[in-house]
Amino acid sequence: MKRIVLFASGSGSNVENISQYFANNAKVTIAAVLTNKSDAKVLDRCNRLNISALYFNRTAFYETDCVLDVLKASRPDLIILAGFLWKIPEKLTKSFPNKIVNIHPALLPKYGGKGMYGMHVHNAVKANNEHETGITIHFVNENYDEGAIIKQVKVKISPEDSATTIAKKVHELEYEHFPKVIDELLHG
Ligand code: GAR
Repeated sequence: MKRIVLFASGSGSNVENISQYFANNAKVTIAAVLTNKSDAKVLDRCNRLNISALYFNRTAFYETDCVLDVLKASRPDLIILAGFLWKIPEKLTKSFPNKIVNIHPALLPKYGGKGMYGMHVHNAVKANNEHETGITIHFVNENYDEGAIIKQVKVKISPEDSATTIAKKVHELEYEHFPKVIDELLHG
């Protein structure tokens, strides 16, 4: 049995999509979903989907080993950041080398770094009149959005696209590719 732990900060539509992808796979289980926002919509999704979910604060994440201990006890084969917005502390990257994977809603190294998340990314892509954008799935190291790239997928942007329709296109890429990449990393 392979075990995955997911981190999310917001809506959690990727969490739901990943959970659906593995729903009929007896060899993969979502051990837990962890969130840093007590009112995140992902918690409602986990309630509906019967997935264990935990909320943690800054003290638990950065100042004590609380989250680290929960992770160790969960024995994850992979830790997946699915819309998680806090920087991962070094104690986690050191404890789980090559096991923490993030998805970024743009073609890194463009539109990465602190403050570049969600609609901020798509607004910047639109403002720069880019002809394409996409997703980047990468390993997580101590620096925001700088770990080794596992997969990038591009999508074209037309002049008629708004930041909202760009976001929709990117989310569709995420739903199609993120679970498959996780599957490959677990079994490849
Ligand atoms: C996703 O588009 C993900 O790529 C992005 O947050 C969104 C979460 O959507 N992540 C980042 O911006 C990380 N820098 P969701 O909550 O509906 O899955």
